[in-house]
Amino acid sequence: MVSVLGLGCASYWAKRRFAEADARAVLATALDGGITVLDTGASYAHGHAERRLGRLLRDLGADPDTLLIGTKAGTVADARGRLGKDFSPAAVTTQVEGSLRALALERLPLLQLHGPEPADLTDDLRATLDRLRAAGKVDLLGINGFAPVMRHAVGRAPFDVLMPFLSVLDPGTRPLVAAATDAGQGVLVAGPLARMAFAPPLGHWLTRPSGLWYLARALRHGPTPLWRARRLRPALRAEGWTPAELAMAWVLEQPGVACAVFGTTRPAHLAALTTGAARPLPDAARAAIARVHAGAP
Ligand SMILES: NC(=O)c1ccc[n+]([C@@H]2O[C@H](COP(=O)([O-])OP(=O)(O)OC[C@H]3O[C@@H](n4cnc5c(N)ncnc54)[C@H](OP(=O)(O)O)[C@@H]3O)[C@@H](O)[C@H]2O)c1
Repeated sequence: MVSVLGLGCASYWAKRRFAEADARAVLATALDGGITVLDTGASYAHGHAERRLGRLLRDLGADPDTLLIGTKAGTVADARGRLGKDFSPAAVTTQVEGSLRALALERLPLLQLHGPEPADLTDDLRATLDRLRAAGKVDLLGINGFAPVMRHAVGRAPFDVLMPFLSVLDPGTRPLVAAATDAGQGVLVAGPLARMAFAPPLGHWLTRPSGLWYLARALRHGPTPLWRARRLRPALRAEGWTPAELAMAWVLEQPGVACAVFGTTRPAHLAALTTGAARPLPDAARAAIARVHAGAP
């Protein structure tokens, strides 16, 4: 039931300023194209992401039993709406109850901890996750985050699924993906398009409000990823392929990747990846990407 592409029901897709009809069109295209993995989070768009996803799935008549709907707990808003982390058993349990209501589900197919530190993975938290599973509130358990905690979670109960970041721009988690798969865990990867950091600004970022929003978000990580991505642009060229399709096809051919979760605001982009990235990566593009990774000039 796990499609190789997953739709991130997050970021701009989840925002109120992105019209519900447009969000519906993206989701409908995903479901029509055979995407069964839908990724969201309790904190995304201050809860609007989960509520929108639940509403639209009902509206589209989707059967939740055929989908791997994943949400995340552990990122919470304070009284002023500022986001922080809380992996206490009480906070995680409250978020799970809220997610079940927002998504109108009796059981969450996948619950991921959202960016914990290794120290957050206490015995109390593990016992809470076990209790939630035993009570039938969640099925699979996972972690979405960066390398230190992901390394810590490889092969460890109760985590069935890991969701590290992996892209042509940041290929460093490949050994972790392979190790998790060897340990029997399923691997979804986030950020397979590297936030489109390799896209030329005029073509991608500066033509739509969503593009500007994604650019501002990319710049919050500092100029370094955008600067590093310049070197990748020549490698992401091949006749009959877009750079996004090449970047995605590269991720999908990495050993152990079960599914790559990406975001989009355009049905045409989604449809293009569904068919375009399903092809074998051209040898010349694979070699060019490998040369960039090896640091060749
Ligand atoms: N835990 C974390 O800290 C964290 C952080 C970030 C993301 N994530 C996860 O990653 C998932 C996706 O994140 P995201 O929604 O922010 O999206 P993303 O995958 O990081 O980036 C989406 C960007 O790719 C572009 N794009 C998509 N398909 C394209 C195509 N075929 N051609 C050209 N451009 C294309 C989009 O532009 P258009 O809209 O124009 O298509 C948008 O600019 C989410 O589900 C989220 O859970 C987690």
